[in-house]
Amino acid sequence: MAERPTVFVSGSLLGDVVARLAQDFEVVTSEDGVRSDAFAACADRVEGILALITDRIDPALLTRAPKLRIVANVAVGVDNVDLAACQARGVTVTNTPDVLTEATADVAFGLLIAAARRICEGDRLVRAGGWQRWTPTFMLGTRVHGMTLGIVGFGRIGKAMARRARGFGMHVLYTQRKRAPEPMERALGATWVASLDELCAASDAVTIHCPLTPETRGLFDAARLARMRPGSILVNTARGPIVDEAALAAALANGPLAAAGLDVFEREPSVHPELLVRPNAVLAPHIGSADLPTRVAMARLAAENVLRVLAGEPPLTPVSA
Ligand code: DGY
Repeated sequence: MAERPTVFVSGSLLGDVVARLAQDFEVVTSEDGVRSDAFAACADRVEGILALITDRIDPALLTRAPKLRIVANVAVGVDNVDLAACQARGVTVTNTPDVLTEATADVAFGLLIAAARRICEGDRLVRAGGWQRWTPTFMLGTRVHGMTLGIVGFGRIGKAMARRARGFGMHVLYTQRKRAPEPMERALGATWVASLDELCAASDAVTIHCPLTPETRGLFDAARLARMRPGSILVNTARGPIVDEAALAAALANGPLAAAGLDVFEREPSVHPELLVRPNAVLAPHIGSADLPTRVAMARLAAENVLRVLAGEPPLTPVSA
């Protein structure tokens, strides 16, 4: 009997995914991902990897895995995967778009409100017994309803933010290289601005929804943060290295920013020490897609891509270099 292909599953996936894969494949799993001894032991025969964002899929890994045919990233972002190296080796790469759009936009919007209205700061104060009394000027925050929201990257999650913003009576601006079709702009009530600096100067809050690429790394550096409106808010649920954390901490301490809501960080799980002590930074541990139905859907989509590619069929959600 021919040997069953080996598939490596990184981390503990939710749902019935591992059981389904085990019907067709020899499945190897490890919480430590591709750095694990379990992966090392099967690397020379592995044909599919269900990878997490904490797994680096680089040329060195590809050399160790000569039979690899698919990397199914259980995430929409694929900055942990060297796409060009995979393409050169003929390894298919897939991601999990759509299924996590609403969950991620929920967290981005939650961070926006929490940062603007100082909810986490207030929570800490109450717990520490520091709440003395109600006064008209106590813990004033930034008004959320009716604000101008600048969206950086108008893909699925950016558009989901625009839909939420409408419910809050916001004026929505967006920027990305290619302008969206006019009917879509009309339906979402969103106005395109050509440059990021223009968007930053015109927005009360800016929310980041672009992928991490060589072009977007460090996009929000000290110079760009200085161009944001005095008293404005920055939200990042995309990827940490898009924002220079040291520069952000300085902008939160000395202006122009009033607050920031962050779900992603430059060197996860580490956070810049200056951010950790900023009361006006709301910090979440990369939980944008962390609701149960979303995580199950992500795992199932990744598994379906592996099943298809190893059966010689096209994947559902391929990513190209
Ligand atoms: C993604 O999908 O890229 C998130 O960061 C993890 O869900």
